[in-house]
Amino acid sequence: MASEPSLAGQTVVITAGPTREAIDPVRFLSNRSSGRMGFALARAFDNAGARVLLVAGPVTLPTPDGVTRIDVESARQMEAAVNNVIDGADIFVGCAAVSDYRPAATSSEKIKKTADELTLKLVRGPDILAGVAARENRPFTVGFAAETENLIENARAKMNNKSLDMIAANLVGVGRGFEQDDNELTVLWEGGEEPLGKATKMVLAEQLVILVGERFSAHAQRERA
Ligand code: PMT
Repeated sequence: MASEPSLAGQTVVITAGPTREAIDPVRFLSNRSSGRMGFALARAFDNAGARVLLVAGPVTLPTPDGVTRIDVESARQMEAAVNNVIDGADIFVGCAAVSDYRPAATSSEKIKKTADELTLKLVRGPDILAGVAARENRPFTVGFAAETENLIENARAKMNNKSLDMIAANLVGVGRGFEQDDNELTVLWEGGEEPLGKATKMVLAEQLVILVGERFSAHAQRERA
């Protein structure tokens, strides 16, 4: 792998952390994302000289120095925040664990324990990453794939279905991926694949930024030719 490319002058938008979908004023649907992977990426892109805008779900992490952070809670808020800043961005990285579904209705009062069973109806939410990739003049678009099986096959399918430039695939499950200090990534792009092995999320973020920088430069050169 080549040395760290300079991303000076480039704007990078990153999503990180979970989203929360309200059921009532005190309950929500969410997931185990801690934001560590996305925050490590924000720091690594900043270290590479980029201007970094970090759209973060509810996490308890400090903002990396030099990074502009926008806090959101739900998938729809995350989508709106991304759409507000994405025009003119050079690179987008979707690292957030965005809820695919939300309750069809949010109760304005705390739901009382009355019936023996309670059925929660869910509706699909926005796919933020696919939305960015579908934009005219889209940024270089990088996704993550969180899989519990068939990692490479599923990640490559996600990359193709969402028309991404690259995808970072990780196996997730109990004690793996989410909420950990370490992770293991395999990075895929059209015609290429690079396993990064197990390491801290900061080390992986630095390695991923190098790969993204290389592919982004190659892509920009092709666009200019
Ligand atoms: O936050 P940590 O505890 O450090 O954990 C890191 C992580 C495991 C969350 C991270 O490495 C990771 O895998 N992030 C993506 C999680 C995810 O939701 O993956 P997915 O395979 O379900 O989604 C695929 C891609 O589409 C992702 O880039 C995701 O951000 C994006 N997506 C998904 C659904 C949706 N409605 N909108 C999206 O933008």
